[in-house]
Amino acid sequence: MLKQQINVLGFAGSLRKDSFNRALLREAINLSPEEMKITDFDLTEIPMFNEDVEKAEDPDIVTTFKDAIREADALLIVTPEYNNAIPGVLKNALDWASRGGKEAPLLKKPIAIMGGTPGRAGTAQAQAQLRQTLITTRSLVMVEPQVLISEVHRKFDEQGHLTDEKTGQYIQRLLNGLEDWIKHFNK
Ligand SMILES: Cc1cc2nc3c(=O)[nH]c(=O)nc-3n(C[C@H](O)[C@H](O)[C@H](O)COP(=O)(O)O)c2cc1C
Repeated sequence: MLKQQINVLGFAGSLRKDSFNRALLREAINLSPEEMKITDFDLTEIPMFNEDVEKAEDPDIVTTFKDAIREADALLIVTPEYNNAIPGVLKNALDWASRGGKEAPLLKKPIAIMGGTPGRAGTAQAQAQLRQTLITTRSLVMVEPQVLISEVHRKFDEQGHLTDEKTGQYIQRLLNGLEDWIKHFNK
């Protein structure tokens, strides 16, 4: 049976204080449907993946991250685009979370993705690459809607508040879709 409250773990692939992608995640938290709770996990302290370290023991922050993914009903990943790809920060975090065999946190985890860039293509290449990675982890990535926010710097005011109504609607559609997507796997 599906729990009453849907717990979603969100993380953005940017460590920047004024990150637009973090701001998009913040808006998702604000706009989430009543029964959905989105928590923002900060990737700043996740160390670089090293198989030797992993063999000895996962660092505490990695254990916290992996447990948070396991406990969540779904993930919301918000990715910037760096050099036509996902940032290393995000890939690194996913590499840690991909490990653990049948207990791997990302295995069969429902995931919604979105991303924003000041550029015109709205993180299309990064999102395509992210989907590719999440095929390998055998995660359940939501097919649609796709949310690609171009010219993202025009969508927020100086204080980091969303000013673009359409962007808000896209995010809401994504979250409503995620709700249905999760239910699909909990019938
Ligand atoms: C190393 C680097 C590479 C970038 N490459 C791309 C790119 O390929 N495509 C793109 O649209 N933007 C690119 N950008 C611009 C980012 O989209 C922009 O800095 C964005 O604001 C980063 O996300 P954030 O605001 O969440 O930190 C790049 C930025 C950096 C720092």
